[in-house]
Amino acid sequence: MKIILLDVSSLDGKLTKWKGSNIYEWSSAEDFAHFQKVKKENNLLVMGSGTFEKVKDLEKAGLKAEKERLRIVLTKNPKEYQQYVVPGQLEFSDEQPKELVIRLKKQGFRQMLLVSGGKVATSFFKASLINELWLTLEPRIFGIGEPLVQEEEFDTQLQLLSSEILNKQGTILLKYKVL
Ligand SMILES: NC(=O)c1ccc[n+]([C@@H]2O[C@H](COP(=O)([O-])OP(=O)(O)OC[C@H]3O[C@@H](n4cnc5c(N)ncnc54)[C@H](OP(=O)(O)O)[C@@H]3O)[C@@H](O)[C@H]2O)c1
Repeated sequence: MKIILLDVSSLDGKLTKWKGSNIYEWSSAEDFAHFQKVKKENNLLVMGSGTFEKVKDLEKAGLKAEKERLRIVLTKNPKEYQQYVVPGQLEFSDEQPKELVIRLKKQGFRQMLLVSGGKVATSFFKASLINELWLTLEPRIFGIGEPLVQEEEFDTQLQLLSSEILNKQGTILLKYKVL
């Protein structure tokens, strides 16, 4: 299964502006359009509960359950989220990344869009499961915010596949392959 980590960050690698604000307050319209396009092309989205908590009430984020795609939210406590479950569309799981990927592969999924924050992204990187990183860089600096990955020892090498300037201010979409 091909796994693509999809994120938008500030130039200083923050996925959020300061503490916990929602990303649509500061990310560009062009990145939002990019996200919507990529989402349409994918039938499997995975995130952590940290991300779900921020978007669950945001209609703009398009998080309402859709029959075209399965969203899986990783959490140690799936039972706490029972009210949100829509089988086959919005599910909650406490599986480890590797076992989740094996199960979904068996179910026939070929590609996963990882739309998580840094915690789940770190577990997937550490398990060598991520094939590509699609990162939109917004020309902003926040100083404080959720990091792309956790503060742990990493030595992940990537190779640039493409770069695209999305708007006049200089929002850049970078696509990398993990080596
Ligand atoms: N800029 C962007 O592109 C972007 C993208 C996504 C998110 N965000 C932002 O990032 C923030 C959330 O960051 P985050 O790092 O908390 O989000 P996250 O990685 O999506 O979720 C982390 C949570 O997932 C659960 N979890 C279950 N299995 C896990 C595993 N194997 N490894 C790690 N965590 C696991 C844990 O919560 P439990 O206690 O429930 O188990 C953990 O606290 C939000 O503010 C969100 O808006 C930004």
